[in-house]
Amino acid sequence: MNTIQNAAWARTEAEAARLKRATLLDLFAAEPARAAHLTVSAPHLVTDFSKQRVDSGAMGALANLAEAMDFAGWRAKLFAGKIINTTEGRAAMHWALRAPDAPANVRETQARRAAFARHIRPEIDAIVHLGIGGSDLGPRLVLDALKPHRVAGLDVRFAANVDGADVVDAIEGLDPARTLLVVVSKTFTTQETLANAAFIRAWGPKHLAAATAAPDVAVRWGVPQANVFEFWDWVGGRYSLWSSVSLACVIALQDGVFDALLDGAAEMDAHFRDEPFARNLPALSAALQMWNREALGHGSYAIIPYSERLRLLPLYLQQLEMESNGKRVARDGSVLERSACGVTWGAAGTNAQHSFFQLLHQGVDEIPVEIIVNAGVHEGPTSHRAKVFANALAQARALMVGRRSSEPHRDFPGNRASTLTALDALTPQALGALLAFYEHRTFAQAVLAGINPFDQFGVELGKEMAKELLPALEGGAPPETADPSTIAWLGRLAPRL
Ligand code: F6P
Repeated sequence: MNTIQNAAWARTEAEAARLKRATLLDLFAAEPARAAHLTVSAPHLVTDFSKQRVDSGAMGALANLAEAMDFAGWRAKLFAGKIINTTEGRAAMHWALRAPDAPANVRETQARRAAFARHIRPEIDAIVHLGIGGSDLGPRLVLDALKPHRVAGLDVRFAANVDGADVVDAIEGLDPARTLLVVVSKTFTTQETLANAAFIRAWGPKHLAAATAAPDVAVRWGVPQANVFEFWDWVGGRYSLWSSVSLACVIALQDGVFDALLDGAAEMDAHFRDEPFARNLPALSAALQMWNREALGHGSYAIIPYSERLRLLPLYLQQLEMESNGKRVARDGSVLERSACGVTWGAAGTNAQHSFFQLLHQGVDEIPVEIIVNAGVHEGPTSHRAKVFANALAQARALMVGRRSSEPHRDFPGNRASTLTALDALTPQALGALLAFYEHRTFAQAVLAGINPFDQFGVELGKEMAKELLPALEGGAPPETADPSTIAWLGRLAPRL
């Protein structure tokens, strides 16, 4: 960090030290209009930050920090397709997959996907989608969230885990003659996906397709060339749901629905690209994430979608945020002085209220909570809708106001921060905007931390060690370099195979 950046952080930390002494209710008393001042809109979303521990002094410090970290400059580089993933020498152009003026190769692939979807639907009753991480979580979330837009009578099964139970479940009750296997892997080298794909291929599905950035490898593996849908190395795995990775979604959602998802994401791209920091929802939200993580020292935050259809959002965000920003070195390789990212966790409300909300209300540590509601039409009984809203609002309010009691076990200290975001409706467009919002927030958070969010070397070591240990479990000797505990475990587990 240079002198200006260090000074910006020092100012931010001084604001945090001041505000730690105030309660959220003090902040409302001092500024009754803060609910309006701290509510920010973007396409399909509106977010209320007023229950966060910030005021105009803090927001000014965060704006200054964004300037010191050259937020506008890095954002321009992102949208200019510059090589901002410097450790891998790549651009990060996931936004180009949904741009109204997408590159020709993107548009051609989109057209091929749509044609394939129309051609294959009458031939199949089921799709088995195999992939893991970014090749799994996005499409799984999109299909679950947009269930009312699904093609009737077409089943989609996902398997990611190398635990064989996952693939066994995936084909249970399916007819191979009426099944399409879609193998999704950017690299086409991932152990889990290739093991699962070999198993399902041997089961004999009539149709094979692949989504990959290594089309030759997919063809050599046995996928007909015409059924290989490419994406490119400038699309990071966890940013890839807009690509052919979502082939199963294109087929299983009604015509036009996936395009609407892309359109909504493009609307958010325009907002993020064009709005100044003070009105830029992903950037402000990123600043608040850093504020909570770094300035106030909260090690995690909980994401609670009050929407059953968004129940997979926490899992999706765990990869997006922690694989992107779970880093300990800056872009130039120097060790960070401050953490770039906390732990993302959560589950759908209201279910979560009946499990871990105890800790949120009365645990020792404050954990900021991010609540999402669908302000549009809900499925099912109309009378349920008010109950969903009442619960979401009540939790945010209870976290903030608490309720004092002379009985310690019944005492709610309150003064716990939350953010509330409403989607205008759970439409394909709004979902696209929401997911693009999180991508840009993750990027903006990385800019504030001074890191590269687009590599993920941290996942490599364990993968390599698993490859080294595998032979010892398949009849070979343990690697000489293995530690005594690992050797003991190999000795215990190998005879059980
Ligand atoms: O192990 C992490 C990871 O590399 C993710 O970044 C990626 O989304 C996932 O594995 C799957 O990789 P692939 O699409 O190449 O199979």
